[in-house]
Amino acid sequence: MSVRHFLTLQDLDSSELGFLIQRAIELKTMLGRGQTHEIMRGKTLGMIFEKSSTRTRVSFEVAMTQFGGASIFLSPRDTQLGRGEPIEDSARVLSRMVDAIMIRTFAHDTVEAFASHSRVPVINALTDDFHPCQLLADMQTYVEHRGSIQGKKVVWIGDGNNMCNSYINAARQFDFELVVACPDGFEPRKDLVADNSDRVSIERDPAVAVAGSHLVVTDVWASMGQEEEQSARVRAFSDYQVSPALMDRADSQALFMHCLPAHRGEEVSHDMLDDPRAVVWDEAENRLHAQKALLEFLVTRSGEKNL
Ligand code: CP
Ligand code: NVA
Repeated sequence: MSVRHFLTLQDLDSSELGFLIQRAIELKTMLGRGQTHEIMRGKTLGMIFEKSSTRTRVSFEVAMTQFGGASIFLSPRDTQLGRGEPIEDSARVLSRMVDAIMIRTFAHDTVEAFASHSRVPVINALTDDFHPCQLLADMQTYVEHRGSIQGKKVVWIGDGNNMCNSYINAARQFDFELVVACPDGFEPRKDLVADNSDRVSIERDPAVAVAGSHLVVTDVWASMGQEEEQSARVRAFSDYQVSPALMDRADSQALFMHCLPAHRGEEVSHDMLDDPRAVVWDEAENRLHAQKALLEFLVTRSGEKNL
């Protein structure tokens, strides 16, 4: 059986992704009932973090604990990764010991290089280009609150960053329309926009973009690694703040999401996260359930035969 990786949403097909969302909801219910599900006893997840994290680290570690397995946090500060050992060699060595590996890093080709030398599943836990694990949680959250997202209008407000690129992939895989409202010069990856032009468009005016939408999503203006651009970005994005007033232009059933951490007073107004349309805490919690479904699928390949 060949090893499966999850570097972008495109590594799974639409039916596999749909299965993961349903399985995440099921695992959440099982956990709520106090049902144990220790399918990874004796198994270990290696977790490489070259950037900071709260949600991703905790959700993967807790997932492995709940599955009866273990996780190892690896940072470049105290591994040979930080002293120049090639990524390919690290992949060869680690994948002979652990059962799956997740990586949060800068360049997307680092996770690609790692995966191509790994014997075990590799999960992208955020690169400069993509954040597919977050999209699993976002899609689960939408389904829980509103049912299927197929055919809905989703609006991305702000930077055309890693999250925005993953929303483009999600538009294809979950079959929705995506409007990206971003300032000139901060568009998502051009190849992704071009390849998905039947469902992805750019609109400069956030008020126009949001009209009639079912889901509004934003993210920080300066991502990890862009700290020096912070003040220039605050200026460039000043018209792109999501507030309850902007949400009033959306559909009456619209939801608001943000992968977090959020900067109140920048990409969101001070009151946006407390608005009843914001589902950001469910979204954060669902990182745990969605990644449990992902780990179960990649490591045990359960569910595959039913698709
Ligand atoms: N949303 C998200 O990935 O959060 P962390 O950076 O805290 O992991
Ligand atoms: N775009 C943000 C997401 C953080 C979860 C970043 O890359 O920093």
